[in-house]
Amino acid sequence: MHTFDPSTSFGPDVAARYDDHPRGDEVAAVAFLSACAQRRPALEFAIGTGRIALPLAANVARYDPVTQLLTENHVRLTLSGSTMSPIVCRLITPGEMDLMARIAGLRLVERFASWQRTPFDAHSPAHVSVYGLSSGPS
Ligand SMILES: C[S@@+](CC[C@H](N)C(=O)[O-])C[C@H]1O[C@@H](n2cnc3c(N)ncnc32)[C@H](O)[C@@H]1O
Repeated sequence: MHTFDPSTSFGPDVAARYDDHPRGDEVAAVAFLSACAQRRPALEFAIGTGRIALPLAANVARYDPVTQLLTENHVRLTLSGSTMSPIVCRLITPGEMDLMARIAGLRLVERFASWQRTPFDAHSPAHVSVYGLSSGPS
């Protein structure tokens, strides 16, 4: 221990395995900090691997129900620097997608909640929809 140097306590070797064992406070920490930040910019001092900051940044994502626009900022932290990749997506409902498909001459054939064909219901967080060519006017 006489060679211990605190400035190297969190070097690349520690970073490589730092997230292997979650502490279990990530969800609670992100919820607490999100409420504190209230959608304003936040800085985590001593960010480490981004264990807290990355889910916090994802949680900053905003959804505008009027325009249906989801605004996200994907933050990538590496040893050589960090990058931010803002993305704006317009979310549509399954019904809206079916209407667009109909306008394009397609009809809904099947809808699942996952690629594993689990049943789609009101609680499904995602959908996989299969469309086919319409055989005639509907
Ligand atoms: C115990 S880790 C915590 C990391 C993160 N906040 C978390 O909760 O997972 C401490 C972090 O502080 C960083 N650190 C130590 N001294 C620092 C300094 N003087 N300035 C900035 N970061 C520092 C280390 O690199 C390490 O990533």
